[in-house]
Amino acid sequence: MITIKTPEEIELLKIAGQIVGDTHNYLKPFIKPGITTKELDQLAEEYILSRGATASFKNYQGYPGSICTSVNNEVVHGIPSDRVLQDGDIISIDIGANYKGYHGDSAWTYAVGTIDEQKEDLMKHTEQALFLGLATIRDGSRVGDIGNAVYTYARKHNLGVVRELVGHGVGKNLHEEPDVPNFGKKGTGPILKEGMVIAVEPMINAGSHHVYILDDDWTIITADGKPSAHFEHTVLVTKDGYEILTKR
Ligand code: MF3
Ligand code: CO
Repeated sequence: MITIKTPEEIELLKIAGQIVGDTHNYLKPFIKPGITTKELDQLAEEYILSRGATASFKNYQGYPGSICTSVNNEVVHGIPSDRVLQDGDIISIDIGANYKGYHGDSAWTYAVGTIDEQKEDLMKHTEQALFLGLATIRDGSRVGDIGNAVYTYARKHNLGVVRELVGHGVGKNLHEEPDVPNFGKKGTGPILKEGMVIAVEPMINAGSHHVYILDDDWTIITADGKPSAHFEHTVLVTKDGYEILTKR
């Protein structure tokens, strides 16, 4: 069942989402060559706690970090570690916050220092794919419309659209119905209604769409070793469109 949130729940989801957006803003100046992903994780967790929330991902199905840090060929769910960021890396940072039992979820890919044109284009197109997917959303639109917009745009630019992982409803649980794939047919899939809250999150590869999971049972990497980007917002479905809850 896809839940329609009450006005009281929407208030809490807005606060959770804003804490996630603010955590991204807080981290941004620290994303430089020389910092470790573990240091970013600690900074994020301290910030989330300082806002009266907790990190949604910590211990989620045994996940060991507070945020996910996925570098270069890592697609999603990279575990924070002693890895030192290098000039020319890209890093996808995925952040979830739980405020009074309601979640916000947003990922963004950042450049570390100066990056090459392939990575620059990948980031630009993945962000654009997110906003084209979001642009289909309004009361009465269908989940397949979102995936169709994301997929069509990414393929036009010869990029690989990851299929194994999908967006999702957000509420009292980090992952709720419906699944929101980054591919699909227009006019198919669940109907979106005013008051639903979903996370749209294209994961797009510079090369092939194929991915593997590492032996740590979390980190997803591209099969061909090429870079991958991830942009995600949690949004509220409104009568005429959507409202971003995880604004920067
Ligand atoms: N943010 C991820 C998502 O959008 C969830 C991370 S799951 C974790 O689905 F276990 F890695 F935390
Ligand atoms: Co998500």
